[in-house]
Amino acid sequence: MKKLNIAIIGLGNIGTYLFKYLKDNRKILTKKNNCLPIVKYVSAKNKNKKRNIKIHKNLWLNNYLDATKNKNIDLIIELIGGAEGPAKKLVFESLKNKKHVVTANKALIAKYGDALSKIAEKNGVNLEFEAAVCGGVPIIRSLKEGLIANKISKIYGIFNGTSNYILSSMDKQNKSFKEVLDNAKKLGYAESNPSADLNGDDVSSKLKILSSLCFNSFLNDNIYVEGIKDIDKIDIDNANNLGFKIKLLGFAELVNNKIYQRVHPTLIKKDSYVASIDGVLNAVIVDGKPIGQTVIQGEGAGPTATTSALISDISSILRGNIKFPFSISSKERNKLKFENIDERTFSAYLRFEVIDKPGVLSNITNIFSKNKVSIKRLIQNPDKNKKSSSIIVITHKSKDRFLNKIIKEVSNKKYIKKKPKLIRIDNG
Ligand SMILES: NC(=O)c1ccc[n+]([C@@H]2O[C@H](COP(=O)([O-])OP(=O)(O)OC[C@H]3O[C@@H](n4cnc5c(N)ncnc54)[C@H](OP(=O)(O)O)[C@@H]3O)[C@@H](O)[C@H]2O)c1
Repeated sequence: MKKLNIAIIGLGNIGTYLFKYLKDNRKILTKKNNCLPIVKYVSAKNKNKKRNIKIHKNLWLNNYLDATKNKNIDLIIELIGGAEGPAKKLVFESLKNKKHVVTANKALIAKYGDALSKIAEKNGVNLEFEAAVCGGVPIIRSLKEGLIANKISKIYGIFNGTSNYILSSMDKQNKSFKEVLDNAKKLGYAESNPSADLNGDDVSSKLKILSSLCFNSFLNDNIYVEGIKDIDKIDIDNANNLGFKIKLLGFAELVNNKIYQRVHPTLIKKDSYVASIDGVLNAVIVDGKPIGQTVIQGEGAGPTATTSALISDISSILRGNIKFPFSISSKERNKLKFENIDERTFSAYLRFEVIDKPGVLSNITNIFSKNKVSIKRLIQNPDKNKKSSSIIVITHKSKDRFLNKIIKEVSNKKYIKKKPKLIRIDNG
């Protein structure tokens, strides 16, 4: 029977669950893959830390980097996290020393994936990162294998469970952003510092990886990123009244031979598939030829879903086929043109909180026409007590830079009470 010797480095939420899973499921994994997975070594930062797994003392490596040179190890599983520091050192050294690597580290792959894949290819080893993107949703393997026949024109979806939980709870529970975020922290759906989830950075890292897989390109940083921090309950209510939901979506799409990558809150039709995905779930939608549209949905994080993805990667290595980390050889990957969002056209929702006095509305509509943005719908909600008015505009399609020019111009007006809001609309 063939064997594969494994080192798990990092024994936190994910590492401990994976360790236990591999121990409990060794037989069935061996049967399915015709190769025996053996956890030879483990390591983490603090040897004396109490963990909810039993580790035989012979398994423990005092220096985690020793795994990279140990002749008894074939595969190193990196579960430390972070784009720099020990995780980066471990993965680079492992590949240089011809070890296969499995990682759940999206930050590392989004930043160093190109350099790492070149080393893996040169040394004929695998670099697998299914768990780095959307947890248990098997989107990487689907793109690399199941959907290999297709020319992909667009990938988009909900890639962050925390922000989706917050937006859908604001919608359903009639609560403010802050109330819902506090609750999400209590329930363990948001980290104590959730900034990367809320400011769009987490989605951006995942989108970069997906985009390069879809378009056979190198990782590209030309990506517009906006999070959900500025979404008010009133925007969610307005969206509902207009027949939309607000979701934080990531998009990578090929339009007229140019690629646009963007992450932003989006108004999406209530009856669309993606609008129905609530709570911490993730959903990925792929448009390709000849297949048409494919949808995959599931748990985006947590030890169970992440372990499911890690086992998929480990199994692929147990079966022994060496693959290009980004689907095709680095020599064949494209240098495509990644366009700035400025030139992309959108319909949009704009909200202006203004002092309620004559002339304001006509001034705003003049600014729209000066910027050649035509108005599809306009709703004015006056509040007599506060002598203020909320003006909501839905536009026809216009270049993004013109929509932003309107926001900038109106922001400077004396009649404006709060920073105006722009939320792009997408039909999926
Ligand atoms: N949690 C999730 O839901 C989830 C989902 C998808 C992907 N991921 C990714 O999975 C990875 C692990 O996440 P996690 O939630 O398991 O993190 P975690 O609970 O913080 O665990 C990190 C582990 O790394 C170890 N470590 C830190 N510095 C080290 C060093 N210098 N040398 C050796 N070990 C070191 C820590 O050791 P000690 O235990 O001794 O402190 C700990 O065991 C990250 O890349 C994360 O982005 C997580």
